[in-house]
Amino acid sequence: MPPERRSEAYLDHAATSPVRAEALEAVRQAMSADFGNPSSLHRKGVAAERIVARAREAVARAVHADPKEIVFTSGGTESNNLAIRGVLRGLPRRGKHVVTTAIEHPSVLAVAAELESEGYRVTRLAPGPQGVVGAADVRRHLAPDTVLVSIMMVNNEVGSIQPVEEVARTLTEARPAGPRPFLHVDAVQALGRIPLDGLCRHADLASFSGHKLGGPKGVGALFVRSGVVLRPLLAGGGQESGRRSGTENVPGIAGMGLAVDLALAELPATLRTMGELRGHLIKEVLSSIGDARLNGPAWTVDPGLPGEADRPSAAPHIVNFSFPGAPGEVLLHCLEAEGVYVATGAACSSHKRGPSHVLEAMGVEPGMADSSIRVSLGWTTTASEIDHFLSALVGAVADLRRFTRR
Ligand SMILES: Cc1ncc(COP(=O)(O)O)c(C=O)c1O
Repeated sequence: MPPERRSEAYLDHAATSPVRAEALEAVRQAMSADFGNPSSLHRKGVAAERIVARAREAVARAVHADPKEIVFTSGGTESNNLAIRGVLRGLPRRGKHVVTTAIEHPSVLAVAAELESEGYRVTRLAPGPQGVVGAADVRRHLAPDTVLVSIMMVNNEVGSIQPVEEVARTLTEARPAGPRPFLHVDAVQALGRIPLDGLCRHADLASFSGHKLGGPKGVGALFVRSGVVLRPLLAGGGQESGRRSGTENVPGIAGMGLAVDLALAELPATLRTMGELRGHLIKEVLSSIGDARLNGPAWTVDPGLPGEADRPSAAPHIVNFSFPGAPGEVLLHCLEAEGVYVATGAACSSHKRGPSHVLEAMGVEPGMADSSIRVSLGWTTTASEIDHFLSALVGAVADLRRFTRR
């Protein structure tokens, strides 16, 4: 008899999502029939250039930008580096002060640390207990030489949505006459998960990544508002209108374009069904495990409801819990043994020891931060995966506590 196939629940979409069939086909096509170099003048090159142009239009459509404002990169990390470094290098005399938050992705925080060693002053704003930074706090910390504010749209560990629109308004109001500090938004966890209608009206730069929404890894995009001077990080052939040299990753770009198109078409359903699944998950976890704690906002964003701006809300795909007495990493492996895949903190930093910088900044006590896991949903998530997770979780937490509380 063939071995019985055990069901699995993949709940680590904030780390990466499975590639969508349509995106995979676009990648295959761009690696086989359409293998040309977009810079070549013959028809093979023109075909590849067309693929890149179509993907650029798809990303631009999803974020309400002009295709000319979209630069393809190797992912969210490069987009963040290029945005911050590119703007500062383009304006070396504008100022030496940068404002960011303590809960950014390492691809922003590590650049901020480098900037300090180069003579910049960096203010890292602490969030409130729900993982949301206040726009008033941004305003309070602006200095006459603030040149850039970098803030994420959706936090990748707890899902909290940052008040980007309010921050943009604050920057304009604070500098009615002089040049407004540039606003960069890391929107890697926001694209395809929450509406981004206003983002490119408010931000000067915004970062995106392909593999978080069903595209391939190693491809991303940066929105650069037209008129913003960006000094490239790489010297070379001047691709991407001189903003990012290197032969374009045509297969990756093709796959990302397809994935973005699909994610955009699904967005209303994502907000509704994923939001419901997240709400159900929170209710069930908190009611079935007595002292479980939710880290981050309970409320899942719903643009249809009034009063939403006043209450901290979360994207529909990320939720973070602490289970005192159940160390997060051990719990992760207990769940894995049941075919359930989750994360402790952020995937890219989970090989590092020590508490999550996000939970720490939110004021979560070390004992609670160490016993936290992140559950993240995506385009393949079903209600039965959530049920599978819930039943595995209740057993795993009880088993672990029998050891740790002896
Ligand atoms: C908020 C955020 N920014 C940036 C990144 C980096 O993106 P990439 O993996 O494409 O480099 C991630 C990835 O986890 C992220 O969650």
